[in-house]
Order: sequence, then C-alpha cells, then structure tokens
Amino acid sequence: MSTYIHFTEEQKIRANEVDLVEFLQRQGEKLLPSGREKRIASDHSITVRGNEWYDHALEQGGLAIDFVQNFYGLSFPEAVTKLLSGEQGELYSKTKERKQIKRKPFVLPPKNSDMRRVFAYLIKNRHIDRDVVSFFAKQKLLYESCEQSANKTKEYHNAVFVGYDENGVPCHAHKRGIYSHGNGFKGNIESGNPCYSFHYTGISNRLYVFEAPIDMLSFITIYKNIHWQEHSYVALCGVSVTGKGVGNVDCCGAKELKGHFLDEEVDLSLMDETLKKYKEVKGSLITILQNAQEIYGFLPMSVLEYISQETGIYSSQIYGVATFYTQFRLNPVGENLIMLCKGTACHVNGADGIEEAITEELGIKDGETTEDKIFTLNNVACLGCCSLSPVMMVNGETYGSLTPQKTKEILREIGKQALDAKEGN
Ligand code: FES
Repeated sequence: MSTYIHFTEEQKIRANEVDLVEFLQRQGEKLLPSGREKRIASDHSITVRGNEWYDHALEQGGLAIDFVQNFYGLSFPEAVTKLLSGEQGELYSKTKERKQIKRKPFVLPPKNSDMRRVFAYLIKNRHIDRDVVSFFAKQKLLYESCEQSANKTKEYHNAVFVGYDENGVPCHAHKRGIYSHGNGFKGNIESGNPCYSFHYTGISNRLYVFEAPIDMLSFITIYKNIHWQEHSYVALCGVSVTGKGVGNVDCCGAKELKGHFLDEEVDLSLMDETLKKYKEVKGSLITILQNAQEIYGFLPMSVLEYISQETGIYSSQIYGVATFYTQFRLNPVGENLIMLCKGTACHVNGADGIEEAITEELGIKDGETTEDKIFTLNNVACLGCCSLSPVMMVNGETYGSLTPQKTKEILREIGKQALDAKEGN
C-alpha cells in the first residue's frame, strides 16, 4: 500500500520553484549551454531554464515537479520530497531567473550591403555549390550581417540563416561566423521560435533533417540535380527532430554525410605510389584524388580516409573537395558512361527531352547507374561542341543533333553490344 504524504500548498509551490539547473547539477547531470537554456547531456532533447523544462522531441514541458516525475519516473509525493529536501536533506534555492529575465523581442541583425564574405566563406571554405548559395540568398533565407561590437569599435560579419513562418514572417535565425581561422562563432538569435528554424519546403513528401544549416547546404551540394528543389529540408539549429506529418524523414549530421560515400573493400596499397610522390607537395590534393579515381574508378570512402591519414589533410576538407568538383565520382560507374550536356545551347535545343528519353529507356536519372551496371548517366556542362546541340558523349564518343527517338536507338545499340560482349557473341 502506498503511503499518503500531505504537502501544504506552500510546499508544492516551493517544490515547483526549485531551480532545475542547480538541482540537476547536484544530481550529477552534465548540462550543456544552449542559448539562454541548458541542455541535458544525457538527453539532448530536454532543455531547462530556471524552474522550467521543455522536451523538444515530445513537445511537452512544464515546471520542476512534473520534470522530476517524468525524468526520474517518480510519483508526485516522491518528486516533491526529492525537490524539497534532496537525498541528503538539502534544500534547493528558489529560482530567481524567471522574474529577472525579460526576453528581448526577436530582431534580425542588420544586413550588409553585399554578400561577398558569405559567398567566399561558403564556397571556398565550406565547398558549398555556388548555385545553392545563390538560390538560398535569392529566397532571402540567407544573408550577410554587419554588426557592431558592444563598444562600437569593431564590425562583425556573419552568415545569417533565416527561418520564416507560414505567413512569410521571419521568426528564427541562426548566425554563423565567416572567418576561416579557428572555431567560428555560431548561435541562434534571441527569442526566435525554434518551430521555424532555417528550412526550405518543396512539393514531394520527403524531408531531410540536419543539425546545422551548413550540413544542409553540403548535402544539397552533394545531391544537387534538377530534382533537389522538389524535396524539403530543415536545419534544427539546436532543436530535436519530430518530423510530424511528413512521409519520409532522413536525418543527416556531419557524420552522416560520410555515409554518402560508398565504402567498398579496396586495395589501399594501390595508392602508395601516388601518396609517396605527392603527400609532401602543397596543393596536390586534387591530383591525388584524380589518381585515386583513375585507380578505383571512383572515390571510395576508405581511400579518402587513407589519404587523410597519410597526408594529414582533414578528412572533412577531402570530402569537401571530392564533392565540390563534378569530375569526381562518389560511386562506381557503369561500363558505359553517358555524359549528357545540359549547357545553355543544349538546354535551349531540348536537352531536357533527351534526359527524359534516357530515363524512359534505361530507368536511371542523373548520377545513377543501371542495375546491370551497363550505363551510368551524368549530366555535365558544355561539352564544347555546341553547334551539334543537343549532345551526349558515351565513353568519349560524341553523339550530336539528338532527338529523343535517336537517343533511345543509340542506347539500345550500345546496350546490345555490351550484352553480346558479356555473353561472348
Ligand atoms: S552547350 Fe552543349 S555542347 Fe555546348
């Protein structure tokens, strides 16, 4: 039979006013800074501030008593007892924070007149695709701030990633320092609504979720094809995932980006000669990657890690270069590499129709390989024979003045030859 413990109203109020930061620290919990709140290290979805708590994953929160009940699985009397006296009979002090802190209204930092620094930082340092940066800038989701230090003697420039609500009103912003040395500043603007952190909404039912805006832009850079704008993307900027009402949710942090490189078992010693020759040569990363691609046909993750280990170049920098240049392939290609030109002349003369014909004939899109590994399709910029547009190149041979029908016939013939060769005819 459970014991009935009577608490006076004054005791309940006192228990509910216990400062949860102090309380948790005394229980041995590690707390991490998260803006004006503290995040519990053992459960990142919960933040506390004064006597209040909020579980971002479950979208619920409250005051000290129900926090202790939920977090420790205690009954109401047990929670009140714990809050009032603690295990050693300690008394916790009443929170002062609630009344003292007056939240400032949410205000976006002032804009700089151009975005030169942000473009340079994101493209050169973070290897984000220029078109992706331009796209988000044009949508007013990204801009460069120009802010003054408190004593007005210095100017600071940050990349600002803005989140809008359904009425197009900015309600959240994440700032990222754009200086290339040391750990850059990052943080959310005070009083932003985390429900509207930096995001882009497409029309498909696929949502990709990221920890930080730069992870999101890196992912789009890797998977940039004509369809990327159909999907939705959100950077949580320090909040946890709920993903309600969306068909498919993928979570991608910096670590998960690695997962987009294929890790096949390969003979790493094949790289030794190249590494011996270039590992001490400054600025030779692209040459090393080109050699690796020549050896393995693409860039397997284990090879990139091996290059990092041998050269001392950070693996994140190597991934950045490998994903930035279209010449590098992250997956093995089929026997026949189709390079379809999507340059201006070809685009005007019907390259999209040619791409559709390839997809109809082979069932693959840009960057994909057929299941039988006979064809890989890569869309590329101008192939240098615009007078023949629309143009594709298969294994170095140019096919010009294409029509959808002609394209299908060419692919059928190449496919037939490949099958005959396999069967030894
Ligand atoms: S635009 Fe296609 S070959 Fe030049």
